Order: sequence, then C-alpha cells, then structure tokens
Amino acid sequence: MSTQKAQFITLEGVEGAGKSTQKEALCRLLDANGIAYIETREPGGTPYAESIRALLLSHADDAPSAKTELLLMFAARAQHLETKILPALQSGIWVVCDRFTDATYAYQGGGRQLPVDWIETLETLVQGAQRPDLTLIFDVPVEIGLARAGRRGALDRIESEDIAFFERVRAMYQQIASRNIDRVVTLDASADVDTVTETMIAFLMKRWNLSCHPG
Ligand code: TMP
Repeated sequence: MSTQKAQFITLEGVEGAGKSTQKEALCRLLDANGIAYIETREPGGTPYAESIRALLLSHADDAPSAKTELLLMFAARAQHLETKILPALQSGIWVVCDRFTDATYAYQGGGRQLPVDWIETLETLVQGAQRPDLTLIFDVPVEIGLARAGRRGALDRIESEDIAFFERVRAMYQQIASRNIDRVVTLDASADVDTVTETMIAFLMKRWNLSCHPG
C-alpha cells in the first residue's frame, strides 16, 4: 500500500501510440501494489462529458469550427474534473486518465494551430492550479501510429486529419515534454509493446517506490 498522496496520472500520444495497452499495464501495477484508483478518459469520463465526446468525434455535415472544438474540449473537462477527478483525488483515490489538457495543446494548439494563449486562459479558468502529477507521453513516428490506428477500424473525425496535422501534434507533445521535465516523461513507443511496458513499469516502480512488479 502506498502512503503518498493520490496521484493524477495522464497518458498522451498521437493515434496508435499504444496508450490503451500501456494504461492496462499501469493499472496492473497499481493493482499489484494495493493502490486504489479510477480509470477515466478525455474527452469524456462522465455521462455528460461522454455526450460532448460523441459530438466532438462524430462525422457531422456541419463539423465544429476549431474554436467550437476547443471550447467543447474544455466544457467536457470542466464537468469531468469537478464531478469525477477532483472528488477521487480528494478521497485518496489515484486517477489514471487517458488524455487531458496536454492533448488540447497538441491537437487544438499544434494540430489546429489555435493560439496557445487561448488554451492557457481556458486551462486556468477550468483547472485553476490543478495539473497532473505525472504525464506519460508515448511517442511514435506519425506514419507508424496512423497505420496502427487504421488497423483498429473506422477513424473518428479527428483521427481522419492528414499527416501534416499529426506531425504538428507530435511536435507539440515534444515541446510540452521539453518544457515540463519534472511532470512529463516521454517513452519511445516505436519499440515492441513488451519493451515499452517494461521500461514504463521500471520507471514507475522507482518513481513511486513500489515493491510489487505486476508480473
Ligand atoms: P482517443 O482516441 O485517445 O480516445 O482521443 C479522442 C480524440 O480526441 C483524439 O483524436 C485526440 C482528441 N483530443 C483533442 O483533440 N483534444 C483534447 O483535448 C483531447 C482530450 C482529445
């Protein structure tokens, strides 16, 4: 059992970086060490925010403008943070979240090229000083990631953007990592899945001083 404060952990990366598989491995590590946690995701995570997710990712004839998309991401986040993430952390439960505000910097700031200071303003409005304790960025060349994502089936509205969009997303994630070295760790996700998992688990066991390997 861990005695440290409940951690807010986020996972990030371009499509097909293997986040979901690595999230499962991370959760097995927490299970093995008797740590209580919830798994959640953005956009979404609560019924109301999942409705916003459906709006954001569906292929509608009148697709949202970039500004609408940005505001909806933060609308969903406000609901998710207030009703799910913060209550969990306050009661000592760790939170493992598939994407959070770094995705907004990467996709709406990098991909859509919206001004970063708009995102900073909304981040402060919605989150105050709340930030993840740890962010894992799974980095993979865009062509490899998109080929993996394509094999999973039909692409959603954002996954259907072109290569140049995802190159900007990846570049923004790299900038975020270099500017937040205490919070953000980048893992090379072009390696095979087991190697990525082993590197991640070794890093996390050391960071949180855990003794039980998930096996
Ligand atoms: P997912 O496929 O990892 O569940 O993420 C859903 C999509 O939403 C993905 O293409 C990334 C995108 N996204 C943004 O564009 N901005 C955001 O702030 C978040 C959280 C996700």
